[in-house]
Amino acid sequence: MPDMDGMKDGKIYYTDIPQKTEGFFLKGSNSLDWGMKNRLARIFNPESGRTVMLAIDHGYFQGPTTGLERVDINILPLAPYADTLMLTRGILRSVVPPSLTQPIVLRVSGGTSILKELSNEAIAVDIEESIRLNVCAMAVQVFIGGEYEKESIINMTKMVDLGNRYGIPTLAVTAVGKDMARDARYFRLATRICAELGAHYVKSYYIDEGFETVTASCPVPIVMAGGKKIPELDALTMAYNAIQQGAAGVDMGRNIFQADEPVAMIQAIRAVVHNNETPEKAYDLYNTIKNQS
Ligand code: R5P
Repeated sequence: MPDMDGMKDGKIYYTDIPQKTEGFFLKGSNSLDWGMKNRLARIFNPESGRTVMLAIDHGYFQGPTTGLERVDINILPLAPYADTLMLTRGILRSVVPPSLTQPIVLRVSGGTSILKELSNEAIAVDIEESIRLNVCAMAVQVFIGGEYEKESIINMTKMVDLGNRYGIPTLAVTAVGKDMARDARYFRLATRICAELGAHYVKSYYIDEGFETVTASCPVPIVMAGGKKIPELDALTMAYNAIQQGAAGVDMGRNIFQADEPVAMIQAIRAVVHNNETPEKAYDLYNTIKNQS
């Protein structure tokens, strides 16, 4: 029993100050539970409302991608500049030190390789693994219009159900088949389906015309995928345009880790995403850091 003697009766209740009830800063996320919001607030910076996710999960279907041959040597130096790492449990356990404090977005769908039909994925990680690994979100590929469209959608809805049980958000990654049109109409369809079926946020490619209609019609945050490597200034311009047209951040891989100077590139991307830096100024920053190193 605590000693009750000498307890001070000087409590202050601030009866004239109502308790604050804050709205949550992320689009479409105000009705989520505390744990879910807390994880999202680790992925998305509450100050800017945006995120720089570094995607390094390519090996799950295409093996040692250029730039990812040695994650320990090439990627770990980038980690301090990323808001989040998106990767597989294999790379997480084998290479990433558990002392890393950046939130993890875990790739949980898989089961196919570049040698076969890519849309034929399944859930490849138990929810217990996501809990055990203390991840902040789970990423599932969704192939709208793909051969295994329905299966990939159901993979996502299963993870949404499991994630809702434990407070872990699901990121739906829209994957576009080689022969399909990458236009606003397609991405409005794909991102909206993912959000309607419960995804907490959605990854979409950028398109030159009508991207703002994709972000406007998706009720949850959209992060922009990087896509194949393009010149650094073009990649910064694409990220800038996506952000200015309503994206809540980027989830980029090759355009960061395949850049001439990846450590400089990720810092330039950060400037575009978090500080609304123009592509030209961000490119100057890229060159300055590159020349210093
Ligand atoms: C898609 O299949 C995976 O999530 C990739 O990791 C990601 O989309 C690739 O990023 P990037 O296209 O920027 O290299």
